[in-house]
Amino acid sequence: MFAPQPIGFVKSPYTETSAIPKGLNAKHDAEGVLEILPEFAAGLKDVEGFSHLFVLWVFDRSEGFDLVGAPPVDNRPHGVFSTRSPRRPNPIGLTVVELLRRERNSLLVRGVDMLEGTPILDIKPYMSSIPAEKLRRGWLAEAESAFVDPSRGLHSE
Ligand SMILES: C[S@@+](CC[C@H](N)C(=O)[O-])C[C@H]1O[C@@H](n2cnc3c(N)ncnc32)[C@H](O)[C@@H]1O
Repeated sequence: MFAPQPIGFVKSPYTETSAIPKGLNAKHDAEGVLEILPEFAAGLKDVEGFSHLFVLWVFDRSEGFDLVGAPPVDNRPHGVFSTRSPRRPNPIGLTVVELLRRERNSLLVRGVDMLEGTPILDIKPYMSSIPAEKLRRGWLAEAESAFVDPSRGLHSE
């Protein structure tokens, strides 16, 4: 194993978890900055060419974990490894963000769902070669099909 070391920190508009959009109709379009520490900045070479990035980060304000729990979007319990719960045995978050631009060792991005000051563990270019028709969304698909968005009527994603 290794001792994780932050490569940087998130500048986010969110200082409280309650402010971060949640639920089936949640839109994650908040802008933020991934500030990479100077000693890791050389690793950003060529990142500008990618439209989207995977960001791996630490749920540093989460304590403990639940192997089974009901997520906010469903009232049925699910195993932690079939959810995106912050309460996990290894408190690692994964967010796909859109890269808007780079300014030296700062990446301006859209789509943050992390709190201000969240430690960043890694950044990788986003790629997916899995065709949409091959993706299954498990229990989430059932929760979505039962969901009625008051602003849009029946939710159909
Ligand atoms: C449902 S998790 C999903 C995070 C990520 N997209 C993932 O899939 O791993 C997002 C929630 O994590 C919580 N959160 C965000 N930053 C956090 C932090 N630094 N420490 C603990 N909880 C955090 C907030 O409540 C936010 O709504």
